[in-house]
Amino acid sequence: MPSSSDVVMVGGGVIGLATAWRAAERGLRVTVVDPGSDEGASWAAAGMLAPISEVTYGEEPLLRLSLEAARRYPSFVAELEAAAGTTVGYRRCGTLTVAADGRDRAHLVERHRHQVGLGLAVEWLGGRACRELEPMLAPGVPGGILAPDDHQVETRRLLEALRRAAASAGVATVADAVEGVRVESGRAVGVVTRGGIAITGGQVVLAAGCWTGRIAGVPPRASALVRPVKGQILRLRGSAGAPLLSRTVCAVVAGRFVYAVPRGDGRLVVGATSEERGYDTTVEAGAVLDLLQDLAVVLPGARELELVEARAGLRPGSPDNAPMIGPTAMPGLLVATGHHRNGILLAPVTADALADVLTTGVVSTLIAPFRPARFAGAPA
Ligand code: GLY
Repeated sequence: MPSSSDVVMVGGGVIGLATAWRAAERGLRVTVVDPGSDEGASWAAAGMLAPISEVTYGEEPLLRLSLEAARRYPSFVAELEAAAGTTVGYRRCGTLTVAADGRDRAHLVERHRHQVGLGLAVEWLGGRACRELEPMLAPGVPGGILAPDDHQVETRRLLEALRRAAASAGVATVADAVEGVRVESGRAVGVVTRGGIAITGGQVVLAAGCWTGRIAGVPPRASALVRPVKGQILRLRGSAGAPLLSRTVCAVVAGRFVYAVPRGDGRLVVGATSEERGYDTTVEAGAVLDLLQDLAVVLPGARELELVEARAGLRPGSPDNAPMIGPTAMPGLLVATGHHRNGILLAPVTADALADVLTTGVVSTLIAPFRPARFAGAPA
């Protein structure tokens, strides 16, 4: 077990692992510290790579980063699969967002107008055209938005590939939770784990999702601004021979959002709630009911599928819902968290940009708008 590294990575989700892998490829000795449970946001995530379908008013800087992330995904996947010797289920399937009825259609018309105004590649389709693409959609679906460039990846295979690639690049792992950052003369010099293991590092990166703010020894504005945003999410299983969907389908049903991400083998990942409920990860019957009912309105065949998993994950949300990436005010301490709804999508750009910072100290223009210091005036 290493007691000293160039970089101590706190967190072994997609952000931590991808950054550890990229930093190790550049010759740094990296240790990832993670309890190894399946409670992180990465394990729960559906794997939507959907910057266009999920675009939100007022988040244009995030959109620029997200579009660049989507552009880089294919080459990232190719490199990762070669390094890991396994595949990650990256599917260029596109995403169709449909309305359940006329009122929901009005909502989507506005969304389409916003997307077109931003110059995004979207196409408005009438109900019949939606069903030509996805024949299992309900006959009442009145229309929707096709985003041909919004794709998906299988998150759990992605995590496994990142673990393998990181290990083969020499990244060490310590299976424990981090209790606190060790600070000497105002500089981060390592971490201590709950099990009492002290690991020394030239640089410490906090990539522990919404738990980042709970790590002792961190200046409050470096991380305590990250909050958990609960997402309850389901996994359904159908027939590989007769999949219900061929692309990701999002839907607005009575003003609520639901999405279904189809895997190649007939499974569907259905999500997700978005709740400000602290660190609660209870799966509630009502949330499961709402998700399934809403989905069944636009995709009645979903009723026939087997419900194989229901869980709640905690997205890390920052005050502006954009990530916090880069150095903090404390020398030697960096953060990579706050990726909110976009952690899987943003992992490659975060990893590459942070590997630059770790090796050269240079913060690229791509991540400069996401400096943790932008919240300097905010109450911690
Ligand atoms: N991006 C999907 C979600 O966060 O639920």
